[in-house]
Amino acid sequence: MNAQASLFDLQGRAAFISGASSGIGLHTARMLAGTGAAVALAARRADRLDAVVADMRAAGHRACAVTLDVTDAAAIAPAWQEAEAALGQPIGILVNNAGVIHVERFVEQSPEAVSRVFDTNLKGAYLMAQEAARCMVQRGEGSIVNIASSSGLRAGGQMSSYGASKAALIHLTQIMALELAGKGVRVNAIAPGNIETDMHAEFAGIEQGILKRIPMRRFGKPSDLDGAMLLLASDAGRYMTGTVIPVDGGQVLSWM
Ligand SMILES: NC(=O)c1ccc[n+]([C@@H]2O[C@H](COP(=O)([O-])OP(=O)(O)OC[C@H]3O[C@@H](n4cnc5c(N)ncnc54)[C@H](OP(=O)(O)O)[C@@H]3O)[C@@H](O)[C@H]2O)c1
Repeated sequence: MNAQASLFDLQGRAAFISGASSGIGLHTARMLAGTGAAVALAARRADRLDAVVADMRAAGHRACAVTLDVTDAAAIAPAWQEAEAALGQPIGILVNNAGVIHVERFVEQSPEAVSRVFDTNLKGAYLMAQEAARCMVQRGEGSIVNIASSSGLRAGGQMSSYGASKAALIHLTQIMALELAGKGVRVNAIAPGNIETDMHAEFAGIEQGILKRIPMRRFGKPSDLDGAMLLLASDAGRYMTGTVIPVDGGQVLSWM
């Protein structure tokens, strides 16, 4: 491997991926393991995680499952510790990915719906990153990749709580980056467009209208995020912090 290619190598590293029981998180866990990282897969659906981890171990990867609800503040630090103990090494990469969507007009969204979205996408991501940062700062190195959304960069109808939570996560990314830059911890975000996962099913029936607003005229796949994910997680992104990378087929350029 030449010097540039080795920048992306995650051999010997460990990563924690929240929301790893499906979609982007599950794909990312497999992808990072494929590049040599040990991975901790966290989510609420333990049965799914156990099945995936069994597969990954059978394929020779180092992986563990951690049952975690990121809206349970008291559970976050123990989950991180459990992951480090199970992998047998400190974790230097957090993919802060757990998230939920709620699609409804602003005036109709119930307090429960708004709380669920903010508690998961913003408070959960905040506390997750806080725990990771505390541990990473002690070792003077680490990379946090927050999974935001193109909805956090541009307004979209019926996406008030979701879009606001992701816009706030982008702002949080920048503040964390500022505070942690001198301590060896980088914090960046990816803003995916429409990626084909379970979450995408929320848009059933209006796909053609959405496709018209995507210059590349196709929805993304979780694997379309691999390049940005690896760049930010690895030493290839060593001078990057506080950035937000849209991965959206150009959607953010032609929103309306
Ligand atoms: N798909 C898209 O078009 C798109 C676009 C932009 C951004 N994103 C973002 O990408 C991330 C992943 O979404 P996805 O598209 O892969 O959807 P997904 O398949 O529905 O995955 C969401 C993941 O989050 C986990 N999760 C939800 N609530 C949680 C909680 N309270 N605690 C722990 N884990 C929780 C789910 O696991 P459990 O249910 O097992 O807990 C699941 O693994 C989200 O942050 C989403 O906002 C997606």
